[in-house]
Amino acid sequence: MAIPHDFIDKVVSATRLEDLVADYTTLKRVSGSRYTGLCPFHGEKTPSFGVSADKQLYYCFGCGKGGGAVNFIMTAENLSFPDAIRYLAARAGLIVPEDNESHADTQSRSVIMKLLTDAAKWFHAQLKTSEAAQSYLNHRRISMNTAVRFGLGYAPDSWDSFSNAALGMGYSRLDLLNAGLSAKSSKKSSYYDKFRQRLMFPVIDVKGQVIAFGGRILDDGEPKYLNSPEITNVFSKRRTLYGINLAKNTKYDYFILVEGNIDVITLHQAGFDNAVASMGTSLTPEQVSLISRCNIKEVVVCYDADSAGIKATDRAIAELDKAGISLSVLRVPDGKDVDDYIKSHGAAEFRRLLDNRRDDVTYRLNKLESEFDLTKDDSRADFLRAVVQLFATLDPIRREVFAPKAAKLAQVESAFISAEAAKAAKQLARAERGKEDRSALRPVQSMRESARIGGFRFSHPRSAAAEQGIIELVVNDPQILAALDFDPHSEFTSPELARILAAMLARFRAGESTDAATLTAELTREEMSLLSRLCSNAVPISNAYDVLSDCLRTIRAERAAKSGDLAALIAARSDISQ
Ligand code: UTP
Ligand code: MN
Repeated sequence: MAIPHDFIDKVVSATRLEDLVADYTTLKRVSGSRYTGLCPFHGEKTPSFGVSADKQLYYCFGCGKGGGAVNFIMTAENLSFPDAIRYLAARAGLIVPEDNESHADTQSRSVIMKLLTDAAKWFHAQLKTSEAAQSYLNHRRISMNTAVRFGLGYAPDSWDSFSNAALGMGYSRLDLLNAGLSAKSSKKSSYYDKFRQRLMFPVIDVKGQVIAFGGRILDDGEPKYLNSPEITNVFSKRRTLYGINLAKNTKYDYFILVEGNIDVITLHQAGFDNAVASMGTSLTPEQVSLISRCNIKEVVVCYDADSAGIKATDRAIAELDKAGISLSVLRVPDGKDVDDYIKSHGAAEFRRLLDNRRDDVTYRLNKLESEFDLTKDDSRADFLRAVVQLFATLDPIRREVFAPKAAKLAQVESAFISAEAAKAAKQLARAERGKEDRSALRPVQSMRESARIGGFRFSHPRSAAAEQGIIELVVNDPQILAALDFDPHSEFTSPELARILAAMLARFRAGESTDAATLTAELTREEMSLLSRLCSNAVPISNAYDVLSDCLRTIRAERAAKSGDLAALIAARSDISQ
């Protein structure tokens, strides 16, 4: 690793994980040093995300992610390891001692970021002088003011004018390829501009940095949009919302979620500075988490009324609901998208639609209603079943408020729906609790189950459980490392657990900190999650050394049993029975 270990340790100890996490989710203190909150990495309504302030580790029982501050920021901000260290260092006011290798690493990212910004400026300048682009803007009724606000640009009809300009600014061919702005033709091994004759939409992140482009063709050609490729540490489509850089400062307390870039632009131009687009993908948990970090109360889902849009609406509802974000649904009439609607009916009419938007329950009820033939008894029964399932996921107040509406449709008593929904909700909660108990309560777990944690599957579950036991002991009391006189790699059956213990041993023997949170540099993300999970299990015990020899005996007996070595098995067994 390019950044020295002791510096990494310094960064980790200068960071308070609970403060860092608090930027992404609200934490509640549950006991002395333990905090819980809604997991920032997956949508959920009841907290399964925990932070231990004394161990400086987090773990989510829901999605299995865990680790220290470095892992957290890697996941939360989609950073590479060195960039995560730089991020935390900057946050703590520390200066990273860079060597050449890691320097090259940062350089390439910052070169890409700079090139993207310069490209946006260049495309924007072209827009101002291109007649074709100007007339397209007119045709789409996008004012110059709006074009400037969104930094729109134009990529001219040329194979090389952009790259020539960029080369002239001092960028290399490789920079252009890395930034996804050039492509190389396979036959002639020559380079050409990827975006040509397109209206350019810079994609700008929450921090206001250009991270990608979408380019729309000016006529009916294909593909309609050409987008930047995903670039590690720079652009990931599923973590990006078009328009978020402006919408995050909206005067409204809700967002309008639309499908397309042009919809966002038209809405902003019409005064709705709270529009964002998921850029043609269905809403991802990462995008939901981006939304939940903005200070808004509700999301109005306003996707196109075609069948793709209806499907996307369902998925968006599910994702927002999981994250506990209030939502409603606005269906634009006549199968139009928002852009068409505003352009033919005006902003005032859209405002009226917005004021009459349907809460998500009514939307879902109406959707169910359209899926069943309520004039037939058996399909009315199916409808009723679906309604009860839907109501089971609502809180009791909303259940009570909407029951009469549903009852009328199903032609039953509203009290019947309330009662059935309450029963179904209890069942759901029980199933949910059952899941949590099984994963959270170590003592009642079978060894087999506990050996299969955080997405890890161990080939020798009984041995792996004992191997985990040893690591838990060490986490509670690092002095136990002094008593370990074996090589984890030859003793353990799980390579991951062996690597964790070996890393701790190496640090202990070098007189360095063995705090789990500082092992980030030595371990993979998955291993850090596993370690965090073990740490959240670990409880101090008084007879640690007895447990240690028990665990070792189990490991050795398992190995002997597997290898069919009878003598070793008898030795291990007799050892146990002593
Ligand atoms: P739409 O087809 O709804 O585009 O796709 P739009 O933004 O309304 O564009 P106009 O009004 O026809 O000009 C929605 C979004 O899906 C992505 C783009 O981000 C687009 O804004 N998309 C669409 C692509 O990435 N590639 C495509 O070929 C089409
Ligand atoms: Mn459109």
